[in-house]
Amino acid sequence: MSEGGVRITVRPNGPLRVEGEIVLSDAEGRQWDLQGKPAISLCRCGMSANRPFCDGAHARNGWQCQAAPPENLT
Ligand code: FES
Repeated sequence: MSEGGVRITVRPNGPLRVEGEIVLSDAEGRQWDLQGKPAISLCRCGMSANRPFCDGAHARNGWQCQAAPPENLT
């Protein structure tokens, strides 16, 4: 990852792990305070009680989702 860049990792059966200099805001531009957090996990299952963050509900509910880029884009 280049300096100042952001890396997003799609975790198998889990959240989106986001690392780097992150600004997270809602549609009105209000920002979450991510100071001191070099990485966050964003829910992609929709079951978290702490959206947009993952709270582990995906695992407790046995949520399954695999995602991988097409072979020719890796
Ligand atoms: S991905 Fe973890 S609670 Fe949704």
